[in-house]
Amino acid sequence: MREIKFGVIGCGLMGREFASAAARWMHLLNMPAKPVIVGASDVNAGAMEWFKTHHSLSTATTDYRELLADPNIEAIYCAVPHNLHEQIYIDCIRAGKHLFAEKPFGIDLPSAERIIAVNDEHPEVVVRCSSEFPFFPGAQRIVEMVQNGEFGQIIELKAGFCHSSDLDPNKPINWKRRAETNGEYGCMGDLGLHVLHLPLRFGFKPKNVRALLSNVFSQRPNAQGESVPCDTWDNAILACESAQGFPMLLETKRISPGDTDSWYIKILGTKNSAEFSTKHPKTLRTMPYEPGGRQAWQEEDLGYSSAYPAITGHIFEFGFSDAILQMWAAFVDELAGNQPKFRCATPAEALGSHHLFTAALESQRTGQTVTIK
Ligand SMILES: NC(=O)c1ccc[n+]([C@@H]2O[C@H](COP(=O)([O-])OP(=O)(O)OC[C@H]3O[C@@H](n4cnc5c(N)ncnc54)[C@H](O)[C@@H]3O)[C@@H](O)[C@H]2O)c1
Repeated sequence: MREIKFGVIGCGLMGREFASAAARWMHLLNMPAKPVIVGASDVNAGAMEWFKTHHSLSTATTDYRELLADPNIEAIYCAVPHNLHEQIYIDCIRAGKHLFAEKPFGIDLPSAERIIAVNDEHPEVVVRCSSEFPFFPGAQRIVEMVQNGEFGQIIELKAGFCHSSDLDPNKPINWKRRAETNGEYGCMGDLGLHVLHLPLRFGFKPKNVRALLSNVFSQRPNAQGESVPCDTWDNAILACESAQGFPMLLETKRISPGDTDSWYIKILGTKNSAEFSTKHPKTLRTMPYEPGGRQAWQEEDLGYSSAYPAITGHIFEFGFSDAILQMWAAFVDELAGNQPKFRCATPAEALGSHHLFTAALESQRTGQTVTIK
């Protein structure tokens, strides 16, 4: 099997998820290529120790430019704070490395535009952005339903990504809760591309937005226990009109009491409706409808039916780390020269999400519905 040598920049929460997915590549069947992590970079030298234990690294460095100078490294996964995306992504692309980037893909709209301008100058470099939840079997079934036109006329789309851990006022602040490092978008930059990936893939572009953003806790304790400003939006509710004319209600929340990593999409149509949430990770709810017929939602347990075949039997469940593995399978498949069945989020989709979030900030400032470019 062809080996694609990867360097990882940012060895934190998400860097480790990729390292784990790469280490269990044997889980996938019939892949044309596999990722091999040969380099790691983190400004915190301690963060690289775990990588050194589990992968044979030829380079472990606090300066990511050393990875970019290594001709053996073909591709980079970059998972660093949002204020660093632009510089590091641009450096990766200019170095000719394929890039699996993290969302939101630049701290704000001008930053995303600058990254994309450099990518346009290097079309030979494959750049994709992380968004794993659409790889859940329930979400993939909804993708098929949209592609097959099963919904009839779409009445409404709701999608969201909800967490609740910030309900605890004593949760210490981190870079994700500071506008300087996370960006003015706050929870939208953190969670929003996850919510937008499928609607944008379906061509359901938001035409306009009325946003309701809330900052529930404006102070949080720092590592020393002192109360410091927490200046990012905790929650966002975005009411949009799609290009097709139906309403889209999108939400990204860090304070949604009771929710942990609850990603969902619900599409209501005249011929069929469907709902999937990671709260019930194996269950797809649908409501096929014939005029004059009964309106009864039905539930189906899907089991492990993934886009990329795996050793796990269909009778078992699918989870977060499986979605991460499937997302990586799609990226590596693309690097191997194939058309993935379901493509990872593209820079254009990330840009589409930036347009929405930028308009949402304006809507919050003005209290008006804002038209999106
Ligand atoms: N796809 C997802 O589900 C998901 C989930 C969480 C976070 N993310 C995204 O992943 C990215 C990273 O988030 P995280 O949760 O892994 O953060 P994290 O804080 O756990 O890890 C970030 C790492 O980057 C390192 N770093 C900082 N500056 C660096 C530099 N100049 N060079 C190399 N390393 C540097 C830090 O030391 C840290 O180890 C963000 O873009 C975030 O939005 C994605």
